[in-house]
Amino acid sequence: MEKCLVTGGAGFIGSNLVDKLIENGYEVVVIDNLVTGKKDYINPRAKFYNVDITSADEVESVFNQESVKTSIDCVFHFAAQIDVYASVENPFFDNKVNLFGGINILESCRKNKVRKMIFASTGGAVYGDTEEIPTTEDTEPNPLSPYGIHKLAFEKYLNYYYKVYAHPYCILRLANVYGPRQYKGGETGVITNFIDNTVNNRQSILYGDGNQTRDFVYVDDVVKAFIKGAKQDNIGVFNISTGVETRILDIINIIETVTEEKMNLCCKNFKPGEQQRSCLNFSRAEQILRWTPHTELTKGIRKTLDWSRNQKISNNQEFNEVYKQ
Ligand SMILES: NC(=O)c1ccc[n+]([C@@H]2O[C@H](COP(=O)([O-])OP(=O)(O)OC[C@H]3O[C@@H](n4cnc5c(N)ncnc54)[C@H](O)[C@@H]3O)[C@@H](O)[C@H]2O)c1
Repeated sequence: MEKCLVTGGAGFIGSNLVDKLIENGYEVVVIDNLVTGKKDYINPRAKFYNVDITSADEVESVFNQESVKTSIDCVFHFAAQIDVYASVENPFFDNKVNLFGGINILESCRKNKVRKMIFASTGGAVYGDTEEIPTTEDTEPNPLSPYGIHKLAFEKYLNYYYKVYAHPYCILRLANVYGPRQYKGGETGVITNFIDNTVNNRQSILYGDGNQTRDFVYVDDVVKAFIKGAKQDNIGVFNISTGVETRILDIINIIETVTEEKMNLCCKNFKPGEQQRSCLNFSRAEQILRWTPHTELTKGIRKTLDWSRNQKISNNQEFNEVYKQ
């Protein structure tokens, strides 16, 4: 049985991947400091280390302990500061987690001869505003936030480690992922937040006129992309998306249809610097990784709604608790 290590394995995408890896017979190790992740989301069959990736010593110690009997075959790197607006407020902290923390993981991978590292990068924040929609991987990145800059800088580190140390990697530039276990506020969580607010009879905020577009990809499809990225020998950068531009107004319509309720909306001005359009072309992933998204938006929204209805604690309560600390 091969061994995988998942950083951020208590979070939204990471914990869904951990479940799938375990279901497929892998031995899984999770590193997470639970800043936004939840212990309840960690599969009980995974070995969990409550470690902060910014601590080089602690990261190295996990890799050393875990490499004694069986070597780690691949590392999936999700642990991150994921809030674009928080990165603008505090670029130093974003740098510490997303770049410095990433290098800690990468160094341990190199020292322990991990076969491959698969990195959760981002499409929207790395490309920035661009003329080409759907955006391909050949578009010149133009990040407009510290979050995007540090994600791109870490991609460059992966390429550098490959060139200098022959350390293989796969970068997946994700569109807007949605689905069960996503709870954090902010732009990437718009579907989950709208659903959570509706289920809990709260108001949702609509920024701007709702004509801004995003490319929403369901978490199960994203998990499959990570597994493909790990299994294949291909090195490189791949967009993981649907290639479909969806307006926020369309999301509101679908949620109102599936919940059979009118959403309680409060309209505010566009957030400063908010992207108007974002949509990624996934042809490269289709051709090389043999990956395509399968979940139709309404079906994904229904699944997210079912999950949200079964939650004891709502998103906003959780979000506020994390940020009160
Ligand atoms: N959700 C999206 O739409 C989306 C889009 C593009 C890229 N991504 C990337 O995918 C990855 C996962 O995102 P997510 O939406 O699952 O977010 P998430 O917040 O649910 O997961 C991140 C996990 O990392 C952990 N973490 C944060 N800082 C840490 C630290 N210093 N040390 C150890 N663990 C730490 C958190 O506790 C959490 O469990 C991130 O790298 C994010 O940038 C997500």
